[in-house]
Amino acid sequence: MRAFLVVSHTAPLSGDFSLSDLPGGAGRLDVLCRCATEAFLVSHGIRKDVRLFFSIQGRLSIELAGENLRHLNPDERSTAALLRRALSRAQALTPGERAQSTPGIWVSWESLAGLLARLQGGGYQPVLLEEDGRWLRGAPLPDQPLFILSDHQDFTPSELELLAPFPKISLGPRALHGHQCITLVHNELDLREAGWIAG
Ligand SMILES: C[S@@+](CC[C@H](N)C(=O)[O-])C[C@H]1O[C@@H](n2cnc3c(N)ncnc32)[C@H](O)[C@@H]1O
Repeated sequence: MRAFLVVSHTAPLSGDFSLSDLPGGAGRLDVLCRCATEAFLVSHGIRKDVRLFFSIQGRLSIELAGENLRHLNPDERSTAALLRRALSRAQALTPGERAQSTPGIWVSWESLAGLLARLQGGGYQPVLLEEDGRWLRGAPLPDQPLFILSDHQDFTPSELELLAPFPKISLGPRALHGHQCITLVHNELDLREAGWIAG
């Protein structure tokens, strides 16, 4: 299982936005949509062995599970519609409750620290994606890695404090977009699994 956690600072906490204004009124939801596309979609198929988590404004988490995911298409607008369904569904939830908004998409009110604790309890081993970490090529990875990255903004100081215990992995010297990082991680793991390069 491959897992990614995208820390979002500006995505909305409700479904009250227009699908025609994802970069503006929807708080750069387009960034999260591109991450979902890169996490799951391959040519004519979907990666079933992937989980993608969004932690939004440190208050809400959305989980997408590849094995159950339906209706994920390559265009950002339809992905945003799925996320909007999740955000709308969240409004009826109390903290601690978790609900499935559409097949394979789960939503709950929980902090970033709470989400991390839950995922670590479930066996995920966090790895922080940062430019100044150890280069991924040849770096040892845990059995069940959870790759953590930020959205279009840097991690805040309090997030960095929370994430400080985890190993830092770099994908290269250039600052990349989050969805590009997901593609590169998948490619590295695909190459390792196929035996084209050593792990
Ligand atoms: C668009 S970047 C964040 C903002 C960026 N620091 C900037 O200069 O504007 C999104 C995230 O992708 C990850 N990232 C970007 N480039 C990376 C690299 N070369 N290696 C590892 N992670 C990277 C980091 O987690 C980063 O926070």
